[in-house]
Amino acid sequence: MDYMIPQEEPERQYAYIRLLKDIIADKKNTAGRELTYHIQTFGCQMNARDSEKLAGILEEIGYVETDTEEADFVIYNTCSVRENANTRVYGRLGHLGARKKHRRDMLIAICGCMMQEPDEIEKIKTTYRFVDIVFGTHNIFKLAELIYDRLRSDGMIIDIWKDTDRIVEDIPNARKYSFKTGINIMFGCNNFCSYCIVPYVRGRERSREPKEIIREIEKMVADGVKEVMLLGQNVNSYGKTLDVPVSFAALLSEVAEIDGLERIRFMTPHPKDLSDELIQVMAKTPKICRHIHLPLQSGSSRILKLMNRRYTKEAYLELVRRIRESLPDVALTTDIIVGFPGETEEDFQDTLDVVRQVEYDSAFTFIYSKRTGTPAASMDGQVPEEITKERFDRLLAAVSEGARKRCGLDVGKILPVLVEEVNEQHPELVTGRLSNNTLVHFKGDPSLIGRIVDVKLNESKGFYYIGELK
Ligand code: 5AD
Ligand code: SF4
Repeated sequence: MDYMIPQEEPERQYAYIRLLKDIIADKKNTAGRELTYHIQTFGCQMNARDSEKLAGILEEIGYVETDTEEADFVIYNTCSVRENANTRVYGRLGHLGARKKHRRDMLIAICGCMMQEPDEIEKIKTTYRFVDIVFGTHNIFKLAELIYDRLRSDGMIIDIWKDTDRIVEDIPNARKYSFKTGINIMFGCNNFCSYCIVPYVRGRERSREPKEIIREIEKMVADGVKEVMLLGQNVNSYGKTLDVPVSFAALLSEVAEIDGLERIRFMTPHPKDLSDELIQVMAKTPKICRHIHLPLQSGSSRILKLMNRRYTKEAYLELVRRIRESLPDVALTTDIIVGFPGETEEDFQDTLDVVRQVEYDSAFTFIYSKRTGTPAASMDGQVPEEITKERFDRLLAAVSEGARKRCGLDVGKILPVLVEEVNEQHPELVTGRLSNNTLVHFKGDPSLIGRIVDVKLNESKGFYYIGELK
C-alpha cells in the first residue's frame, strides 16, 4: 500500500493517519473498547506545545486520552536541561517496562531533547529494549509514519535527525486548554550559553514566516482561543534570518491586530537583545500581557562572561530600569543558576544584589547541572554541593522577599482575569490569571472557564490573590 504515500509534507503524514485510522479501528473492534493514550511531558513550554501536536495526531488516528500510564500508548516527551531530569525519566521508564510485560500490545514511545543525545539513544537500545519508537525534537510531525512503521515491523523504530532546516506545521494538534495555547514562532537556539545543552539538542535558529504564524493564530482564534503564547528559545532574534527580515516587535504588533485574540504572551526573551522597540510596542498594545520573563542566570558580570551571556550586571539592571519606566505595571520573572563553575561568595552576592534590586514577581532557581558536551562541563572550579545548596536556600529567601512585596501591590484593584480551571483543592473556587500572570482564586462556577472577567483582588497571599467576581 506504501506506493500510494506522497513524498511531500504534510500530505505524507495525512496519508499515514488515514492508514492508521483503519488499523486502530480494527484493534478497537477486537478489543471491544476504546484505545487510550497518555503523554508525559517533561521540561519547558516548547515541549508542552510539542505534546499538543503529538496528542493531535493520536486523536486523529483514533486514540482517546487518559490521565494515567495505564494506557495503550504511552509517550515520554523528555527534557535534558538538567541531569536529574534524565535520571527521573529512566526511573519511570523502568516501571513502564514492567507494566508492558503484562500487556504485550502496549506501545511505548520516547522523544524530545534527551533523544537528541547519542549516549541516551545507546542506553535505550541496550537497557530499555521494550521501547517501541524513539524520535527526536526535529521530527515530531512524523509520529503517524513512525507508528505505522512500528506496526509493520518487529523491532524498535529509531528516527533521530541531527538538525533540520525544515519546518512542518499544519499537522493536527489537540490543545490542553480550549481557550489558550502556545505557538512556535521559531525553533532552535544559536546563543550557546556555556552551561546549556539546548543549542545541541534543538539545533540552529529557524524562524517561521510571519504570514504562517498569523494564519495559524487566526485559525486558533476561530476555534475559541483567546490567549496565545509566542514561543522561541530567544524570541528577540525572531525573524533576523528570514528572506525579508522582520523584528519580533513588528511580529507582535501584527499579531495584536488579530480580531478576537485578547491576550498575547511570549517566552523567552534574552536580555542581551531585548529592544526598546519591543518595550514601546508593549507599552502601546494592551493586548500584550504585562509580564516579561527575563532570565538573569547570574548577577555577577564575571560569571555572566564565563556563561557567554553577553551582558553585564549593569546592563541588565539598566534594561530593567528602562522596562519599568515604560511599563510600570509589568511583572518580571527570571531564571537563576547557582553554583556555576568558579562562582565565589562575592559572585553570589552580586546575584543576591540584583534579586533585591529588581524584586522579581517570581523566579525559577536552579542548581547548576553539568551537561556533558557543553563548555562549562570542563571548566575549572566546579562548586561543591554543600556550598551550592546553602547558596540556593539564601537565594530562595531573597526571591520570596521580593515576590511578597510585588504581589501585594494590586490589592484592592479590579482587574481582568482569564479563568482557567476549577480550583483543585476548593471546588467552589475557580482559578485564573491576571495579565501579569499572577494567579487569582475566587468564588465561581465552571461556566466561567475560558472567559475574561473582572475580579476584585481582596487579599494577597504572597504569590497569588484571593478575589471576588465583580
Ligand atoms: N544547569 C542548571 N540550570 C540550567 N538551565 C539551563 N541549563 C542549565 C544547567 N546546565 C536553566 C537556565 C535556563 C532554564 C530553562 O534552565 O536557567 O534559563
Ligand atoms: Fe540555552 Fe542560552 Fe539558548 Fe537559552 S539562550 S536555550 S540558556 S543557550
